[in-house]
Amino acid sequence: MASPRYRIRDMTADDVPAVRRIESAAYEDAWPSRIFETELQNAFAHYRALVELPDREPPTGRFESIARRLSRAPRDRVIGFMGVWYMIDQLHLVTIAIDPREQRRGFGQALMLECCALAGTAELNEIVLEVRVSNEPAQRLYESFGFRRAGTLKAYYKDNDEDAYVMLTGPLDAPALRERIEARRAAHLARFGGAFEV
Ligand SMILES: CC(C)(COP(=O)(O)OP(=O)(O)OC[C@H]1O[C@@H](n2cnc3c(N)ncnc32)[C@H](O)[C@@H]1OP(=O)(O)O)[C@@H](O)C(=O)NCCC(=O)NCCS
Repeated sequence: MASPRYRIRDMTADDVPAVRRIESAAYEDAWPSRIFETELQNAFAHYRALVELPDREPPTGRFESIARRLSRAPRDRVIGFMGVWYMIDQLHLVTIAIDPREQRRGFGQALMLECCALAGTAELNEIVLEVRVSNEPAQRLYESFGFRRAGTLKAYYKDNDEDAYVMLTGPLDAPALRERIEARRAAHLARFGGAFEV
């Protein structure tokens, strides 16, 4: 069997059922489908899906969408996703999740690298996010990208009144942070080699 290949691409409305399944498995307070559908229409939002590519290339050209609808075409498989909002001077990481069956394999790191790349392309020099105080795995991931706690939002999560930490990168062009992100990128390359297609 061929080695798996991966890609990070824009999320589409067709991905919402798969994304919802991952959300429900990964989060206790998963978003309903309509929030993703609304977010995909939001001009200030950008949602990206990390997918495993099919063994066979999907058909291209005018019959592609018909073949896909007939489900005979090989489809990519959504492993994880993330969403950001473009703010005036910051990129806001709104959501990130990896299918629980695929966690601890470096895919969260791959999406964080993508998040940094989106900030760079948009010329936004800082990334901000909120995270549950109990969510230590996510905090470890963010810290490895240089995020630091900037404050606490009391009872931010309405399902259980849990507090959120606000975490910030600080200026992305600071030499120490650039070095840290480059080190993450090198670690990602060492782990996946050429398995991630651009
Ligand atoms: C947070 C999340 C996206 C991480 O995805 P992942 O693919 O498992 O992460 P990676 O394998 O790329 O791990 C990267 C680093 O994150 C940290 N990390 C990830 N999972 C961890 C865990 N369970 N415990 C401790 N550290 C963890 C580690 O530093 C890890 O590096 P290492 O494997 O070299 O030790 C994933 O756990 C998830 O989807 N959680 C549920 C949704 C969620 O909480 N999202 C964040 C909301 S703010």
